[in-house]
Amino acid sequence: MTSPRRSHWDDVYTTKQADTVSWFQDDPTPSLDMIALTGLGKDAPLVDIGGGASVLIERLLDRGHSDLTVLDIAQAGLAVARTRMGERAALVTWIAQDVTAWQPLKDAFSIWHDRAVFHFLVEKADRVAYMRALDQGVSVDGCVILAPFALSGPERCSGLPVRRYSAELLQAELGQRYALIDQKLQTHVTPSGNRQDFIWCLFKKTQTLAAAEP
Ligand SMILES: C[S@@+](CC[C@H](N)C(=O)[O-])C[C@H]1O[C@@H](n2cnc3c(N)ncnc32)[C@H](O)[C@@H]1O
Repeated sequence: MTSPRRSHWDDVYTTKQADTVSWFQDDPTPSLDMIALTGLGKDAPLVDIGGGASVLIERLLDRGHSDLTVLDIAQAGLAVARTRMGERAALVTWIAQDVTAWQPLKDAFSIWHDRAVFHFLVEKADRVAYMRALDQGVSVDGCVILAPFALSGPERCSGLPVRRYSAELLQAELGQRYALIDQKLQTHVTPSGNRQDFIWCLFKKTQTLAAAEP
């Protein structure tokens, strides 16, 4: 079924060149640095949430990562990446799905990566649903990389309102079973030259919900 959210993003990817949108980056070094910081091997199952047309997955394949999944609400965004990658696209699992409705296999991933997606979830119910998917999909000792706009970042992205975060606010969303390992503020320069502050946080899952419950 087509939701307004899905239509918005499919429209973006069908009407704009992928390298002109504000979030475009040809060098995903902040993501690569955080993924390296997890200390996990190249065979660690990684999911890029809302990966869209990002080049991150190609850079990870270049570095030898072998278990990669990209989930995005916009089939059109995934199609841009798949077309660009040609035969290499077959090395990746592609899922066209709203993350808030996703039910990943339990413990399927040891790295959850999200750049500029979680901040669109301005409704509490959506954030709860996102965290339910995350907690189901990420195994204990797995890592979660979240990179929304920082408190000093823009109030909107792609014409939509966003929620801005500090590491403490992200910690509150994840709960205490996720330990903050690292954080950094990063300024992204958009293709049109605007500056956008992101907060990058790396968390480690320390416990299942069941183990934490009395
Ligand atoms: C600002 S773009 C960031 C794309 C990519 N992560 C990057 O860094 O280049 C946001 C992406 O999240 C996707 N998205 C937005 N809401 C989503 C949702 N609820 N579930 C899955 N993907 C979503 C959009 O289609 C889009 O590709």
